[in-house]
Amino acid sequence: MMEQTFIPKSLKVGKESGKITWQTPSNIALVKYWGKRDPQLPENTSISFTLSNCHTITSLTYKKKEVKNDSFDFEVVFEGEKNEAFKPKIETFFHRIVAYVPFLKEYSFVIASKNSFPHSSGIASSASGMSAIAMCLMSMEKELNSELSDEEFYKKASLLARLGSGSACRSVKGALVVWGEHSEIEGSSDLYGVEFTDAVAPVFNNYQDTILLVDKGEKQVSSTVGHGLMHGHPFATQRFAQAQENISKIKEIFANGDVDGFIALVESEALTLHAMMMTSHPYFILMKPNTLEVIHKIWEYRKHTGSKVCFTLDAGANVHVLYPESEKETVQTFIKEELFVYCKNGEYIHDQVGMGAKLLDSTHI
Ligand code: DP6
Repeated sequence: MMEQTFIPKSLKVGKESGKITWQTPSNIALVKYWGKRDPQLPENTSISFTLSNCHTITSLTYKKKEVKNDSFDFEVVFEGEKNEAFKPKIETFFHRIVAYVPFLKEYSFVIASKNSFPHSSGIASSASGMSAIAMCLMSMEKELNSELSDEEFYKKASLLARLGSGSACRSVKGALVVWGEHSEIEGSSDLYGVEFTDAVAPVFNNYQDTILLVDKGEKQVSSTVGHGLMHGHPFATQRFAQAQENISKIKEIFANGDVDGFIALVESEALTLHAMMMTSHPYFILMKPNTLEVIHKIWEYRKHTGSKVCFTLDAGANVHVLYPESEKETVQTFIKEELFVYCKNGEYIHDQVGMGAKLLDSTHI
């Protein structure tokens, strides 16, 4: 299988110790990934805007084990405090990726992470969190294999991130990333995300995303469980086919600067995602009353002003309000005056499209 090409053939003997820090962004899908098969492969192609302000900063400190053993040796520090809750997810992640990064068992790690967005804001932190660890591990690999090209580096980082959380593979590059094989997207793959390099009209540059924190609690149904419910879902086949068509459509929309087409497609994708949840067995609803209030307010505002503002949703109650940079002032006023009342504690986060992962530091300690 093709994934073999990502297994290193020979690596130099690694440094005794070191520390690497990466900042990686969150992303918001326009055509949604919902449904997967082993090993974390998507049932349909998805595309997302990479975000900028919502990000994770992770430092990976590594030290050669004094006594070799066959287990993963790591500690997690989240927002300055030792964290046990994230360990099982990272342990699973390490099991999935160890074949690709065989040096993982030779070291003891401290993974220290912090998010730019408030904890339990309902913003998916798995995308930025997993991609940050993946980037740090790739920096380690680069030290062991100086021949690794930039292209190979980012592809493999995305592949590793995918094995942590599917959508994380779209949190390595910017501004638009496609994940999942599609006949009209050159180089696209189920194994990793690729930058969308086809024509994009200027109206879509620096697109704005204000995230309204409608509900900040733990989700009742995790994304992983939700994905699982697409197996045997009565509408799954049609949904996956529709997503493939929507990728073809959005490609045209970007090329033509068709903002009305963008609004229609993106809002339909969001509602379809939630319709899949509501028609799963067992069924579930992640939207809250205020999610619907916001959607209606946006529709009303658009009708009365001719604005090009629209919304999308991820697997939760929060609303991502999307709009062109040219409307930044007016839409942000609208949000401040009319939408903030639907947010928990009046909280929202202004963000915009960003350019992907950043190396902050790489030191020998
Ligand atoms: C609704 O990537 O969080 O945000 O692969 O199980 O970790 P796992 O799921 P995850 O699913 C995200 C789903 C989504 C849509 C999307 O981001 O495309």
